Amino acid sequence: MADWSSKNPYMSTITENYILNGEGSRKETRHIAFDLGDSGLTYKVGDALGIMAQNPPHIVDELIEVQGWDADEMVITHNGEKRLWDALKCDFEVHMANKKFVASLADKVVSGQLRIKSTVMRRVRNGQEIDEELPQGEAKDDPVSTVEKINSSKEEVEDYLWTRDYIDIMREFDVKYSAQEFMEIADRLKPRLYSISSSLDAHPGLVELTVGIVRFEYNNRPRGGLCTLYLADEIGNKEIGVFMSPTKSFVLPEDKSIDIMMVGPGTGIAPFRAFMEQRVYDGATGRNWLFFGDQSEKTEYYYKEAIEDWVKNGDLYKFTTAWSRDQAEKIYVQDRLRENGPEVWEWFDSGAYFYICGDKSRMAKDVHTALIDIVEEHGKMSRDDAVHYVEKKMMREEKRYLRDVY
Ligand SMILES: Cc1cc2nc3c(=O)[nH]c(=O)nc-3n(C[C@H](O)[C@H](O)[C@H](O)COP(=O)(O)OP(=O)(O)OC[C@H]3O[C@@H](n4cnc5c(N)ncnc54)[C@H](O)[C@@H]3O)c2cc1C
Ligand SMILES: NC(=O)c1ccc[n+]([C@@H]2O[C@H](COP(=O)([O-])OP(=O)(O)OC[C@H]3O[C@@H](n4cnc5c(N)ncnc54)[C@H](OP(=O)(O)O)[C@@H]3O)[C@@H](O)[C@H]2O)c1
Repeated sequence: MADWSSKNPYMSTITENYILNGEGSRKETRHIAFDLGDSGLTYKVGDALGIMAQNPPHIVDELIEVQGWDADEMVITHNGEKRLWDALKCDFEVHMANKKFVASLADKVVSGQLRIKSTVMRRVRNGQEIDEELPQGEAKDDPVSTVEKINSSKEEVEDYLWTRDYIDIMREFDVKYSAQEFMEIADRLKPRLYSISSSLDAHPGLVELTVGIVRFEYNNRPRGGLCTLYLADEIGNKEIGVFMSPTKSFVLPEDKSIDIMMVGPGTGIAPFRAFMEQRVYDGATGRNWLFFGDQSEKTEYYYKEAIEDWVKNGDLYKFTTAWSRDQAEKIYVQDRLRENGPEVWEWFDSGAYFYICGDKSRMAKDVHTALIDIVEEHGKMSRDDAVHYVEKKMMREEKRYLRDVY
């Protein structure tokens, strides 16, 4: 079997790629299945899949046009010698600018050259003359002092980068880089990881994902995430490089009679679909309790049929939902955990595993706090003992509080 990795990915074909959201949703979450063919690749539930995506072609075209580069020029990259167009498409993150590039502006801008507010530039594209509005600048600022101000703190740089890509910045300051110079500054294209949402036993030869597509707009240009836009808009039935990223810790209990609680709002449901498929396949006798939620039951009830079947067949002992926007007050998974506090404590106390998957920055932190609150109240402990119970006993010693957050 070949040793597939990020350096040597297996070229897979997508067999299913559809939107899970109902009509009228504000989100685009996709179910995507990849064929493992004759790769010999295997995985266990809890593992992640690595994906090698590419930049949108229109961004590569525009970047080359703005800089006046030759798309066919041969260039040397960390992945060998190739056409500039191919290098920009496959080897560098060109859809979002980096801090190194902002720092490099200091050597490029010329004093006294005024940036112009809301300018229309006439340009030729596909043989046609078009008027294009340029990103806005502050007419009064000298570019040298503007660049100095942007580079004066980490926060300023981050704020500046949040709403601009390379093309915006190059236009804003009218700066020119050689292609080789640019490739030394731009980040190398990184693989993206996705929690696998299938069990190989339930879907032989396939690996399935649940992917939230990142789309946003700035300066009237549609933008988004590199990998998710590639999967949503470009891949079709072309091959795509994938590899396995196995987990050591985010695993099901070996003893199949142990109860498990799974908290996975949004795309956080991914590994728990896989866990449920595996527990059913294995005939596990432990009870399964799933907490799931997203904006609305009508549009975000992902994998509804499978979940309803698991409930009907008794495979899912309990299914608790938190639809955040179906009522005036927000309801989140941690509110449901608190409402079910006495039973949650009973499960903890009798050795159940507790899993969280999904948003790291807010949800996972709030669920963590809710757990400590529940242990304090229903386990009748001091705050310090409750923290010790959750963070030391469950998490570190018994390894039955496990997280897959991003
Ligand atoms: C172990 C692991 C498992 C994961 N599992 C899953 C999963 O199951 N499903 C899933 O969907 N994702 C998952 N992720 C996240 C996934 O890896 C990617 O990070 C995600 O899909 C975004 O990748 P991208 O290439 O599309 O976006 P990128 O090109 O990496 O860009 C994302 C960035 O866009 C920027 N951005 C977002 N919104 C805006 C805005 N409005 N304005 C300006 N900038 C903005 C943010 O800086 C954000 O970091 C997982 C991550 C890890 C580490
Ligand atoms: N690293 C990256 O580049 C990247 C890319 C894509 C996504 N992500 C992260 O992955 C997460 C998953 O996105 P997703 O679309 O699957 O789901 P999500 O945005 O996390 O939303 C799922 C549900 O969680 C709710 N929620 C919001 N804040 C919460 C909180 N503090 N505690 C508990 N629940 C909360 C949402 O409610 P409301 O929306 O109604 O408030 C929604 O009902 C995103 O939040 C994002 O941070 C990261």
